[in-house]
Amino acid sequence: MDVPPFSFDRDGLEKALDLLANPSATIDTPLPVSAPTAGVGTSAALEMLAPHLLGRARDLGAPGFFAHMDPPTPWITWAVSQWTASRNQNLLHPDLSPMAGAMEQLVVDWLAPFFGMTGGHMTPGSTVANLTAIWAAREAGATEVVATHNAHLSAKKAAHILGMPFRQVEWDRPGDLSASVAVITAGGTSTGHIEPLDAASGARWRHVDAAWSGPLRLSPTHSQLLDGIEHADSVAVSAHKWLFQPKESALILFADARAAHESVSVDGAYLAVPNVGVLGSHGATAAPLAATLLAYGVDGVAQWIDHTMNLAEQLYQLIERHPELEARTPPQSGVVNWRRIDRSHPITAADQGVFVSTTTIEGEPWLRSVAANPMADPELVVNVVADG
Ligand SMILES: Cc1ncc(COP(=O)(O)O)c(C=O)c1O
Repeated sequence: MDVPPFSFDRDGLEKALDLLANPSATIDTPLPVSAPTAGVGTSAALEMLAPHLLGRARDLGAPGFFAHMDPPTPWITWAVSQWTASRNQNLLHPDLSPMAGAMEQLVVDWLAPFFGMTGGHMTPGSTVANLTAIWAAREAGATEVVATHNAHLSAKKAAHILGMPFRQVEWDRPGDLSASVAVITAGGTSTGHIEPLDAASGARWRHVDAAWSGPLRLSPTHSQLLDGIEHADSVAVSAHKWLFQPKESALILFADARAAHESVSVDGAYLAVPNVGVLGSHGATAAPLAATLLAYGVDGVAQWIDHTMNLAEQLYQLIERHPELEARTPPQSGVVNWRRIDRSHPITAADQGVFVSTTTIEGEPWLRSVAANPMADPELVVNVVADG
């Protein structure tokens, strides 16, 4: 029996590209419910998968999509992701990633200065970035995690994993913080609220969770919203949110990266270098981000961010002017909470090609529109929701 070839099949890849452009070109057939014993071949597999993987995917760049923190991605990230999949580098060992490791270092070096940090590394998301920061804080002597009600659930999760108590506080009366790692949220998940970045001044370690809002730092127009972030001990930023990257892509950055990395490193006999951070094997996540920054520059990415901030403001203004709608507060970092004033109408989350997300704030249900989609059309979204 012939062993299936690994060799590069240009026609196959071109077919994948054709299906990407036109996923409905093939017949929608159900996928097998048990693992196929014999393969159908690469071409047939692509044809079978396209209607599912592409055709049924949520279009995050559709005009009606003004919902979650998940953006559409620039096409160059698709191309580079294909390259990195083809090379399958592993940053766990320098033998397996001579360039991918250097690429990650390069991207971290490019971005860390925007946050006043000296370095860091990439993680698959800010959940892991927060866990890594809190781990480093614990190694530096913190024995409890404190955060406000705005904090993302990953702060509590990290405390649990690390065996540290979690205490919910208000920053204007936080109590004794001398043994605490304080997680300050810059861009609350439900509201986009940016907490005071000079909060928790007495804490043992100050971590800013800027998973959502961190990229504002790249925009000369909006950077000042995060002034003070440079005094943190660590900063988490999700690149797969407002840096328009494919998942899973985020950064954990440290004020003293050398010391922090040392404190979260473990030696392994089979590794040439210590294993830094939470992950074992991991790939060249930095490559699509490097490509995005090279292709469009910091200025280009900042323009996308500024544009989406404007879309959030437009959405807010349209809601304010509409007699049947109300907004909770003006958007601070591109997140708008809004709803129909007549609460007897159920809250619409998905209708007529329009998508908004929902959340609960202080026990009240709200719609939540996050400015992650540069192609969103605020007028369309408002009209459909207002019509109920
Ligand atoms: C403020 C905040 N922190 C952390 C996270 C977790 O980030 P990720 O989904 O990248 O793991 C989120 C996700 O929405 C978030 O909004």
